[in-house]
Amino acid sequence: MKQTPRNETIAIVGAGLIGRAWAIVFARAGCQVRLYDTAPEALAACQPLLLENISDLAQHGLIDESPAEVLARITPVPTLAEAVAGTVLVQENIRETLEAKRAIFAELDQLAEPGTILASSTSWLMASEFSEELPGRHRILVGHPVNPPYLVPLVEIAPAPWTSAESVQRAHDIYSRAGQTPVLLKKEITGFLLNRIQGAVLNEALNLYADGYASVQDLDKVLKDGLGLRWSFMGPFETIDLNAPEGVIDYAQRYGPTYRSVAQAQLPNEWDPAVLARVEAERRAELAAPQLAERARWRDNRLMALVAHKRRQAGNES
Ligand SMILES: NC(=O)c1ccc[n+]([C@@H]2O[C@H](COP(=O)([O-])OP(=O)(O)OC[C@H]3O[C@@H](n4cnc5c(N)ncnc54)[C@H](O)[C@@H]3O)[C@@H](O)[C@H]2O)c1
Repeated sequence: MKQTPRNETIAIVGAGLIGRAWAIVFARAGCQVRLYDTAPEALAACQPLLLENISDLAQHGLIDESPAEVLARITPVPTLAEAVAGTVLVQENIRETLEAKRAIFAELDQLAEPGTILASSTSWLMASEFSEELPGRHRILVGHPVNPPYLVPLVEIAPAPWTSAESVQRAHDIYSRAGQTPVLLKKEITGFLLNRIQGAVLNEALNLYADGYASVQDLDKVLKDGLGLRWSFMGPFETIDLNAPEGVIDYAQRYGPTYRSVAQAQLPNEWDPAVLARVEAERRAELAAPQLAERARWRDNRLMALVAHKRRQAGNES
């Protein structure tokens, strides 16, 4: 589907890994994008990096314009004031410390017009932690992406208790129009939804490894050749609904007591450096350190092929 350029301008604050990826999301959707970073070298470096990522998307058939047309909608600007003027959304992507987030949101709340939504990409911080004192706190929320958001569409919208329902709805609409899949947290919690679920999986994988039940390689296969195949098109609730003939209650009656006793025996993993050194050694035997970057590129290419496949199947999906 060819994108129609839209009269909607988005500011991206912080031109690192996630800021650049957000810029691609919105430019691909036809928005004008202004990109700002305090480090001039980050802004200077971003054009070739953006072009490389957008060209990869083009190669997988994931954009219908030339990479140059998409790139032309992204404008690096030298000041924060220029970045935010006349925007519907500011997406903040600076380093992950509470002090930095507090300082940038105070500045953004002063500079941005009253109708502009201010969203943070923070992975772990809650909007209430950096917006409480601000006059415009009703338009501040978290919009947590998954890396890279131009391939993985989930955005977790996590409002503070004082974020207005109207701001939440507008953020939801902006992300949806840009092709993302927003989900809403009904109340705040550290780590939102995705990182908490990822944390639970990691906790159990580390425990099983530390207690000697399986190798790193085999534990990875449990996901990539097992659960992960299904998880790319359905979640845990739909999974259990379909895994007993009569649905969720039937499944719970059959297996619930066992899951419960397993959960009762599960402990928080200590992330012991000695165990992590063994995990690292097993990984390095599989993949030498100099090949990490090449493998990350391979991962992104596999993701692009999967996204392209899912798009082709879209007509058959619900
Ligand atoms: N990396 C991930 O996988 C991932 C995923 C989801 C969310 N996030 C979140 O996204 C945010 C950015 O992460 P990243 O990985 O892109 O970091 P990064 O280090 O790649 O980029 C941060 C950029 O912000 C710039 N910056 C710092 N202070 C600034 C300021 N005051 N104004 C403007 N620019 C400023 C830096 O110069 C740098 O270019 C973090 O909050 C992180 O938790 C990261």
